[in-house]
Amino acid sequence: MTQRLVIANWKMNGDLAFLEALASSLPSLSNVQTVIAPPAVYALRLAELAQGVFEVGLQDVGSHESGAHTGEVSAAMARDLGASVVLVGHSERRSEHAEDDKIVAAKCEQIIAAGLMPVICVGETLVERESGKAIDRVRAQVTAQKHCLRNAKEVAIAYEPIWAIGTGKSATVTEAVQMHQAIRGVLKEIVPAAAPGISILYGGSVNAENAPELFAYPEIQGVLVGGASLDTQQFAAIIRAAAK
Ligand code: 13P
Repeated sequence: MTQRLVIANWKMNGDLAFLEALASSLPSLSNVQTVIAPPAVYALRLAELAQGVFEVGLQDVGSHESGAHTGEVSAAMARDLGASVVLVGHSERRSEHAEDDKIVAAKCEQIIAAGLMPVICVGETLVERESGKAIDRVRAQVTAQKHCLRNAKEVAIAYEPIWAIGTGKSATVTEAVQMHQAIRGVLKEIVPAAAPGISILYGGSVNAENAPELFAYPEIQGVLVGGASLDTQQFAAIIRAAAK
């Protein structure tokens, strides 16, 4: 956990021209691991442009190894494309594709079997936060991935409160740090041997302005960036903030 982790999640955005522009404008800093997760169809081209400055991630993979699953991309294909990291359980996958903890666990196993690093996304809804159930919700999501957390060679958790995603309303650092501490506590409890090596990232309206504040806290070992990763200058500034 010596390097900070900065991951760009483009979601269903970007194109080839942007990909080329971004690849040539990112800083290469030894204490930051930068990962870009474009739509899967762009991963191969992105890997060609990476030059050791960043790694390629995928936003999702299928829960099966291979077979008759139209439209799916397998974890082994992700590795073939040059990806080293795969997001799993993003709240948009959970809500738009009805992915529950069981599916997330199956995907996680595929990612590990392919030798890639899963980044397990967790987070509560606004209703859950307002009714004081945020920590319980996230604790349950993390605990459901115990097997994956224990068996992965490398794995990270991304805490993304759903109400902070794409809303411009980031969690306060106090809220983020509190949840990161709670997640760290769960990890120590359920996977004591692996816990020290698991990074916990924050995601939800991270931008160039709030990144320095987030990185001021050792509890926050990285960030998962949506909207601001589509702006080359802003994303470069977030990487630089992570290096400080
Ligand atoms: P925003 O940074 O656009 O809020 O998105 C966060 C996110 O969902 C990253 O996975």
